[in-house]
Amino acid sequence: MRAPLAVVILAAGKGTRMRSALPKVLQPLAGRTLLARVLDTALALEPAQVHVVCGHGADDVTAAHAEYPVAWVEQPEQLGTGHAVACALPDIPDDHRVLVLAGDVPLVTPETLAPLLEGEHLTLLAARVEEPAGYGRLIRDGSGAVQAIVEEKDADAEQRAVQEVNTGLLAAPAGPLRRWIAGLSADNAQGEYYLTDVVAAASREGARVEARLATDPDEVVGVNDQAQLAHAERLWQRRAAHRLMRDGLRLIAPERLTLRGTVRFGADAAVDADCLLEGEVVLGSRVSIGQGAVLRDCVVEDGAVINPYTVAEEARIGAGCEVGPFAHLRSGTRLEAGARVGNFVETKKAQLGPGAKANHLSYVGDAGVGARANLGAGTITCNYDGAEKHRTQIGADAFIGSGTQLVAPVRIGERATIGAGTTVTRDAEADALTVGRSRARTIHGWQRPGLTPRSGSTEDDETPPASGSATE
Ligand code: UD1
Ligand code: MG
Repeated sequence: MRAPLAVVILAAGKGTRMRSALPKVLQPLAGRTLLARVLDTALALEPAQVHVVCGHGADDVTAAHAEYPVAWVEQPEQLGTGHAVACALPDIPDDHRVLVLAGDVPLVTPETLAPLLEGEHLTLLAARVEEPAGYGRLIRDGSGAVQAIVEEKDADAEQRAVQEVNTGLLAAPAGPLRRWIAGLSADNAQGEYYLTDVVAAASREGARVEARLATDPDEVVGVNDQAQLAHAERLWQRRAAHRLMRDGLRLIAPERLTLRGTVRFGADAAVDADCLLEGEVVLGSRVSIGQGAVLRDCVVEDGAVINPYTVAEEARIGAGCEVGPFAHLRSGTRLEAGARVGNFVETKKAQLGPGAKANHLSYVGDAGVGARANLGAGTITCNYDGAEKHRTQIGADAFIGSGTQLVAPVRIGERATIGAGTTVTRDAEADALTVGRSRARTIHGWQRPGLTPRSGSTEDDETPPASGSATE
């Protein structure tokens, strides 16, 4: 029978090499913290206990992960990875198997860790890498048995050439681990209690030490500086993109997708280059997402087209809708089937009925727009009086002329027509034309400063325009 599992996650370090005010394990990877990624992996192993050792920025680290069912252990001073594990050990019974994970090794999968949970000996996860710099090296004796791990800073030239490295992750039975850790010394280049020295301790006792090679070295990359964080992000994104494509999503440029959440999608949905999908995104069948679109917590129903550089947050886009380019759908936007929102249109808490249109340069906020209503270019719902927000209700088949302001609260009746340039401050009747517009006058012969007068120009008086004049 397998021993109960206690996972210890090391997350107390400052991450000096990040040169950031944020504790290292709070750095984001694909929109979540490094530590959240490791916690998810740990919990997937169904452990009996999870201990997170924190120290640097402990309050922020704990607060950011309050929803996780784990025990937080404080390491008041960061005296090394061995000391960090020692802080958690008093709460772990001898009959448990301890798995040590690092808060800065975020890509490892439960599948890769599973073999470490078996057996009653010390097992470490190793990797063979082209560029071993920065990692502890595995030192084997003549028979091939692992004797020790030597940290980069303590290694001689020959040891540095070794390409078999320690991933920082290991598992051991709690009883012997306690003994090995109690015997650690800080007599090394960094003056720290290295967890890695338990390997030499076990080996000296003649205890079995097993090194498991991670089949995919990309899974065990450690994040110690900004370059490694960016590298880990890319690896995570590549993995996510491949999973989506395997499930049938068409990615025009998989290397240029950024996913910070989950996407569900129907058949023949396609996403163009440089899109950012965040939170929970649902794409129906045949949906097309144009280049550079940003979608956060959105539902896009079958056959809808999102044109390039659209930004949509908490919006629901109905079947066959067309949005953008350069549209901004804010929270509470709901577009019914076949609605159309064009370029430089911002919507917020707005419901557009089936086939309704706002094609150019508009603000539609706190508004309900009936079926097939047409909002002309530059239609503005004036929803805010400086203190409160008010609603605009537009009836089905209404036609709102260009450059109209609708001063809320206000209602526009069904099939109403609003003349271009009208400022609507009272409810507009159904089936009628509402227009309010000051007449334009023409002043003949008026001299614009800086414009050379046309020769022969004599008129200097004002002529009233003929009724229905084109100058209006
Ligand atoms: C560690 C390993 C190294 C391995 C590498 C893989 C040791 C001594 N070295 O080196 O062999 O190749 O990981 O990525 O273990 N931490 C604490 N308390 C401390 C010190 C560290 O909680 O007192 C935490 C850090 O926050 C980090 C993790 O332990 O999450 C690893 O520490 P780090 O300083 O990054 O060790 P590396 O130099 O990467
Ligand atoms: Mg590290």
